[in-house]
Amino acid sequence: MSKSISGFSKLSKAKKIDWIVDTYFSNSEEAKTIIKQYWNTDEKIQQLHDEFIENTITNYYLPLGVAPNFLINGKLHTIPMAIEESSVVAAASKAAKFWLDRGGFKTEVISTTKIGQVHFMYRGDFNKLKTFFEQVKPKLFSDTASITKNMESRGGGITAIELRDKTNDISGYYQLHVSFETLDAMGANFINSCLEQFAKTFKNEAQTFNLFSEEEKQIEIVMSILSNYVPDCLVRAEVSCNVEDLSESQTISGEAFAHKFVQAVNIAEIEPYRAVTHNKGIMNGIDAVVLATGNDFRAIEAGVHAYASRKGRYSSLTHASVEDGKFKFWIEIPLALGTVGGLTKLHPLVKLALELLHHPSAKELMQIVAVAGLAQNFAALRSLTTTGIQQGHMKMHLMNILNQFGANDDEKQVLTEHFKSHTVSHNAVSEALNKLRSTGA
Ligand code: MEV
Repeated sequence: MSKSISGFSKLSKAKKIDWIVDTYFSNSEEAKTIIKQYWNTDEKIQQLHDEFIENTITNYYLPLGVAPNFLINGKLHTIPMAIEESSVVAAASKAAKFWLDRGGFKTEVISTTKIGQVHFMYRGDFNKLKTFFEQVKPKLFSDTASITKNMESRGGGITAIELRDKTNDISGYYQLHVSFETLDAMGANFINSCLEQFAKTFKNEAQTFNLFSEEEKQIEIVMSILSNYVPDCLVRAEVSCNVEDLSESQTISGEAFAHKFVQAVNIAEIEPYRAVTHNKGIMNGIDAVVLATGNDFRAIEAGVHAYASRKGRYSSLTHASVEDGKFKFWIEIPLALGTVGGLTKLHPLVKLALELLHHPSAKELMQIVAVAGLAQNFAALRSLTTTGIQQGHMKMHLMNILNQFGANDDEKQVLTEHFKSHTVSHNAVSEALNKLRSTGA
């Protein structure tokens, strides 16, 4: 039976591990060995990781792969991707190569506005609240001057503060709805610090606003927090070519392929069951780059899926058309990313990933990430509408299955060759491996 513990966070790392393995594992020595196997031999690097979060016991590895040959606005990129799903990097690389020969990806940042809100309750006359808001607004800016000084000197800062009446939804509920430009920073700390100061100033100033009654002075701050919904922090990426240039094989013409491809996108536009899987494939590419570059993939996921539902029905993030013999495929997606602050200076692999990308600005990173999503979706739809997804997936999965069965390097080599012309399945791999082991063939 498990037991609770108090003061766990105060224990040393060794004591925490002792408690974990003794409490939860039948073979505590084996569990301890696994935990320690993933410690970094460089103590400084290990300490860095230990201090990222509370109660670190070890590191959780993900592979960091690279997908080369991405031509974006005429410039070549090799994109770093941190992901465990076996087919993702291979699919990205394939799509990059495909579009390299067809003009590459074209991208543009449409907008970069981020949002934060102070949520508060006020019981009284809305006109008086509006007058108070207009009067206190300059003080909201001046009271945050020490927080915004550096950001403003670089061209960013608070761009608008609005008072929003939400009383139709919840009685007494209002917001300060604030727009920010945070340049190369994701900006969460900056935004939240500004909002918390707004909340203080707003509440304090209300106490002495002479038009308010005693009850109206009692503004109740509920919370102050940035929003991960960023529909005005948008980037667009696109590929296009003549329909006949889409053809790669003898089996399907460019025209037939384009037609099927557009059909598949149209289905994802109107059918939420399909749209979720379609967008999940896009996020395979997006999350992998977001993670490799030290950004917050949960924030990106939440914002992207909210955007996919913005018209009241969950829908595809990508779109495709064929007009006058030209195939066009594009994505428009909200991405609040940073290339300074956060993990970017701390995590050695994040630094490496950003250097690999030529130290991008946040705007450049938005474009690269959008391309990774579009490429991933192109690769998935190309497989789905032609060969089916399993052929490529199971080929990539073969190595995982071989590892599960403990195949050695020679066995892996022989069986990789064998499965170039045979269908991969768990059973088929098991049988082929057994046969190889018993007969050597
Ligand atoms: C698998 O991780 C992603 C796909 O299901 C995406 C899609 O269906 O478009 C292949």
